Amino acid sequence: MAAAATPSGVSWLSPNPRGLKGQGNQVTARTVQGTMSCRAEERTRSTASGLNSSSAASGRRRQHQDSPSRLVLNLSLLEATARTGAEESKDLTEGDEDEDDATIPQALLHRRQLLWGATGTFSYLTSAGFGLAAPVPPANLSPESCQEVPDQQQKLNCCLPDGSQLTPIDFEFEADLPMRIRQPAHILSKDEEYVKKYNQAYVLMKQLPDDDPRSFAAQWHIHCAFCEGAYLEPNNPNNLKLQYHGSWTFLPWHRMYLYFHERILGDLIGDPEFALPVWNWDNQRDADGGNQMPRMFAPFYFGKPLSMNPQDSELSKAIRNPEHFPPEHVRLDRGNYYDDMGTVFDSNLALMHRAVVTPVSSTDFLGKPYRAGQAADTAGPGSIEVNGHNIVHVWTGSNYLKLRPDHEDMGTFLYAARDPIFYSHHSNVDRMWTVWKILQIDQSTRRGSRKREDPTDPDFLNTQFAFYNHKKQLVHVKISQTLDTERLRYKYQALDSDQDWINYTFADSGQEKPSPEEIARLVTDKVLKKDKSVSFALTRIEPTPSQGRSAEDLEETLVVKGVQVPKNSFMLYKVFINLPDAGVSTPLGIYNFVGVITHVPHKASHGLGHNRKVDFRLSIGASLKALGIKDLEQVSVTFVPGGQEDDVEFDGVDVEFN
Ligand code: C2O
Repeated sequence: MAAAATPSGVSWLSPNPRGLKGQGNQVTARTVQGTMSCRAEERTRSTASGLNSSSAASGRRRQHQDSPSRLVLNLSLLEATARTGAEESKDLTEGDEDEDDATIPQALLHRRQLLWGATGTFSYLTSAGFGLAAPVPPANLSPESCQEVPDQQQKLNCCLPDGSQLTPIDFEFEADLPMRIRQPAHILSKDEEYVKKYNQAYVLMKQLPDDDPRSFAAQWHIHCAFCEGAYLEPNNPNNLKLQYHGSWTFLPWHRMYLYFHERILGDLIGDPEFALPVWNWDNQRDADGGNQMPRMFAPFYFGKPLSMNPQDSELSKAIRNPEHFPPEHVRLDRGNYYDDMGTVFDSNLALMHRAVVTPVSSTDFLGKPYRAGQAADTAGPGSIEVNGHNIVHVWTGSNYLKLRPDHEDMGTFLYAARDPIFYSHHSNVDRMWTVWKILQIDQSTRRGSRKREDPTDPDFLNTQFAFYNHKKQLVHVKISQTLDTERLRYKYQALDSDQDWINYTFADSGQEKPSPEEIARLVTDKVLKKDKSVSFALTRIEPTPSQGRSAEDLEETLVVKGVQVPKNSFMLYKVFINLPDAGVSTPLGIYNFVGVITHVPHKASHGLGHNRKVDFRLSIGASLKALGIKDLEQVSVTFVPGGQEDDVEFDGVDVEFN
């Protein structure tokens, strides 16, 4: 049953937009429209242009459109287009070998391949890598280990400067470095000295020749190389590609990517205390605050252009969605444009809570294991990657006037890191890892007192990454060295606004739960629809003690299995428990909402050349408890589409404990 047409006008209590100054307990009536077409809503939204019926909001928008910055905005767009043209002709070479990933024979994925592990021990690889125990070795940065990334007909060379003549050094902590304090970008945007310095660092970085590993080209290619599988996994006979997204390597690898990038920027301007700004998009407090594209990155810097020529700002040179320039607010619930901003902010907080506070296990938060000899596709992303991270990527990138189907820069992993805002966005994602680790809240396990911990698996701790440092040395760093930012000599300014999503309380939907008969009648077709909600029955199981934990301390996880993510387009579904009538307008601040599943376009060919199959994990224990659902009681799971282009097949829903 696909939440059949029930425009029954159910009223929603729109919970108080917490943390917003001067907000009372305002109650807004909402209507659930289970079958409303997202496309139709998308159309209404773009024709209406003003998204908000509230006069304050539309007033802001009018002001935005009439502002002198509009000229600059158009210039910026032209500039951005021109730059990409130049960049592409430099980076893309004609591909004549046509060696698509699809041609790698499946037969290469033999069972029980003998693998020479990085530690010098032998391990057995069973069926695409499961059951193998060995940490992923660092990339070999030689041209032979790197392949061009197929990008439609062309090939993009993301390979990094040749490191084969360098002797790698092991990463060491430098206790005498000054502490670098990463502060919110919307605050730093008012600090002209900081912005000029930061901008100057990129001026200098862009002056370096491309074969210098500190150059801007080499810096953004790091991301393009390791999100698209340009480098082969060393010592592996199966042509497996290194891929640090979609698994427990996501957070530590990006942490060290930012670490070296920040050190290089600081070194170029001779400031060892230089710290990256943090795009505080989770902050819903300040009307012109964190939850907007930070002013320092906008072509019109803080109300006035840096100069009339946006070319002068390296921070604004990127392809972005001009409709999302300030004062537009980030909407983490991308699938919806609510009438009132209060619901937008409230849904943002609800999503943040589900992304960071609800998951207590590292598997659900950081992602699943990725070990040597394992196709990275077979791991699975954690909530930190799938929620705000992916959504803000796509929100920032452009497909303005349909000119950019690839949603550059930020909206596709291939190009994301050539926008300087990438590093500020990822600072915030990295910051959330530090917040998650010290949270004392456990609403998810039965006992309710589980402590959060990074994985202690030796394969996690001993996985190594290769980076170039600010002295152009080749450095190998182990994940065990990435876990404490203070040892890396940086930290984040503590932000009060975190409390708004940490202490967020969900509301009752006021809806009856579906009866067992209704659940029994739900669809069995394993397809998530692009234009309507679909619901499935979830059969629950009893936890069995595992990993040294009693059943009382395990987290119940909804696994959405084998989702065939459309590799070249965006995907988003909002997921609700026991609410088959959930539709695009259902706000997220209710117990039933358990999180989202999303995918950011990669563009380049992936893995074995097919759509990737991804297992998504959503921690549901907190929702089940709040909804008063008893052990083993069947529930429904509803997927509400958020504006993707196609239906998506998957293998069904399941429960796991971890
Ligand atoms: Cu490497 Cu934000 O992705």
